[in-house]
Amino acid sequence: PLVTSTEIFKRAYAGNYAIGAFNVNNMEIIQGIVDAAKEEKSPLILQVSAGARKYANPIYLKKLVEAAVEDSNLPIVLHLDHGEDFEICKQCIDDGFTSVMIDASHHPFEENIAITRKVVEYAHSKGVVVEAELGRLAGVEDAVNVSEKDASYTVPEQAAEFVQKTGVDSLAIAIGTSHGAYKFKGEPSLDFERLKQIQALLPNFPLVLHGASTVLPEFVELCNQYGGNIPGAQGVPEEMIRRAAGLGVCKVNIDTDLRLAMTAAIRKDIVDNPSNFDPRKYLGAGRTAIKEMVRHKIKNVLGSNNTA
Ligand code: G3H
Ligand code: 13P
Ligand code: NA
Ligand code: ZN
Repeated sequence: PLVTSTEIFKRAYAGNYAIGAFNVNNMEIIQGIVDAAKEEKSPLILQVSAGARKYANPIYLKKLVEAAVEDSNLPIVLHLDHGEDFEICKQCIDDGFTSVMIDASHHPFEENIAITRKVVEYAHSKGVVVEAELGRLAGVEDAVNVSEKDASYTVPEQAAEFVQKTGVDSLAIAIGTSHGAYKFKGEPSLDFERLKQIQALLPNFPLVLHGASTVLPEFVELCNQYGGNIPGAQGVPEEMIRRAAGLGVCKVNIDTDLRLAMTAAIRKDIVDNPSNFDPRKYLGAGRTAIKEMVRHKIKNVLGSNNTA
């Protein structure tokens, strides 16, 4: 069924594992993810960005996710990723989403609280859960000293105050991850001390890690080998995702890894089969690559296998 994340997060928190929140934009991406979750018996969060709604048309994505629920019988959360204001959150809630993110993290603290609170009130009146964000994800690679980190990373005391004042159901935090395929210039590092402090102040409260793709080297290499040009791509090491999953992080956001897997497989399939012009062939290869990648994530990184 289509569910909220409440029960799923409770179990993930207690079991020290995390649920993958995968960004979806079309049928093949959804099918690849759902086929993997079926085989691994894992709950799923399928998340839709404003860009995805614009690309696919909201009604198509909604119907595809409904098809995924019917086909899989898995608990699936339909989540709005990075809702930028109350209006888009309301629209998705009214459209039948079971979860929305209000991302007002670029606003000052008090304003973030006020906007988030308004979304929470509306969402909860409709039985929908809300994720908010505190801290800034992008542009923190150069944050070397404590005061720079405090300006961009989530401040633990503020996280506790924010949750208490907004009544939000989960919180995305900034501890050194970032969106996209170029997450670290040098050695990857996340601020686990900060994560532990946040967890200590918010016991049993589900945390969310955005920008959590691991940027699998095999797909970067395939892309580059088959005409692509994405040198220096680097993600969060798998070990760090596992560690975060044991420290209160219940939702791990993954988009870049889907993009890389699909693009790598399609690039290879098109080069390997020059006489083919049936899109089902290369889109099918993309779908299979996503499925195998997501299976690996669920089983070996997130640990949500056999929990559905
Ligand atoms: O956090 C952003 C997600 O990767 C979605 O990306 O806005 O290009 O759909 P998008
Ligand atoms: P990645 O770019 O690391 O996949 O992060 C995706 C994300 O956070 C979507 O909200
Ligand atoms: Na999100
Ligand atoms: Zn994100």
